[in-house]
Amino acid sequence: MVVIKLEKVNKKFAPDVHVLKDIDLEIKDKEFMVLVGPSGCGKSTCLNVIAGLEYVTDGRVFFDDVEVTHVPPKERRVAMVFQSYALYPHMNVRENMGFALKIDKMDKEEITRRVKSAAELLGIGELLDRKPGELSGGQRQRVALGRSIVRNPTVFLFDEPLSNLDAKLRIQMRGEIIKLQKQLKITQVYVTHDQVEAMSMADRIAILNDGKFQQIGTPTEVYNTPNNLFVAGFIGSPTMNFIDVRLNERTGDTVEFADFTFELTNQLAEKIKNSPSTQLVLGIRPEHIKITPEPHEKSFEVDLSVVEYLGPETLVRFELSENIVALAAPTGYYPVKMGEKSFVSFPKEKIYIFNKDTTQNILYEA
Ligand SMILES: Nc1ncnc2c1ncn2[C@@H]1O[C@H](COP(=O)(O)OP(=O)(O)O)[C@@H](O)[C@H]1O
Ligand SMILES: [Mg+2]
Repeated sequence: MVVIKLEKVNKKFAPDVHVLKDIDLEIKDKEFMVLVGPSGCGKSTCLNVIAGLEYVTDGRVFFDDVEVTHVPPKERRVAMVFQSYALYPHMNVRENMGFALKIDKMDKEEITRRVKSAAELLGIGELLDRKPGELSGGQRQRVALGRSIVRNPTVFLFDEPLSNLDAKLRIQMRGEIIKLQKQLKITQVYVTHDQVEAMSMADRIAILNDGKFQQIGTPTEVYNTPNNLFVAGFIGSPTMNFIDVRLNERTGDTVEFADFTFELTNQLAEKIKNSPSTQLVLGIRPEHIKITPEPHEKSFEVDLSVVEYLGPETLVRFELSENIVALAAPTGYYPVKMGEKSFVSFPKEKIYIFNKDTTQNILYEA
């Protein structure tokens, strides 16, 4: 079993290139943890610190209770799978998978046994005599996984392993990696910039930006209860709508902008009352806005500017006094057409309020 712990880790590549800033992270035994964030935010650096391919500038790394901060990669027994999985073109699958073990002078029979068992696990038992050139992209990716599995790692690290595959194959491989995780029962850390991939695969997601984890939680937690504007905007597709609003000081339980008024839950109204901020941002997800062809309670009439049919879902945009708001509804639920009258409302229990100065979700402000 391996619990991975990062304690106050800092990584600087130069005095002014401070990539990881005092980060703490604990990955549980047998957990599938996904590190997600925009390109260049330090995901690979963080993974490399866990692998030992980069050493920290400051801070400590633990595998279980053993400090490995200065332990070289080989002794950490981690396996790493990258986006480019350079297989040796002149070797067949069997040789590719067993190569590292052969270099380690492992017993031949043991190599054969391990390669066979990994190949069966990955469903490539029939391909052992083929060369990489005779394999599809997905099969090559499986060989790359197999090459790591045969080493019986205690930790599996993935750095955007599916980025080179086409959309269909990517979705299929996602499923296979998850299945593999359940079978191997080892701690795994998976890096991606794709929040959909993160949401669909993770036990927990750690969202990295500006050198810090913005939030660490299950997919449901980060979707339902985002800590701040960054997480709210990064997780979820289509993206959450944000509108600058002001509190109605008189009643304290509504927010307004232009001619529009939005009711708040008691819980939110109470929090705002105690918040130091005056600048507020309202957030609402496109799938939470209610739309009907006839007026409903607290609804306002809008003109639909764009209607996109996306199969099961229909995406609609409308203008709300200079703000373009996106709305997503199950197709057929209300057959929206451009130019038709439509009435929308923002259900109060689906409204998020953020402090514009600190970007924090008001509900979780200290
Ligand atoms: N070896 C290095 N030397 C200098 N800067 C680096 C090095 N590796 C990464 N960086 C910088 O650190 C930042 C984070 O990089 P990286 O961890 O690769 O981001 P991500 O994987 O999230 O795209 C980037 O700005 C990158 O340019
Ligand atoms: Mg990277």
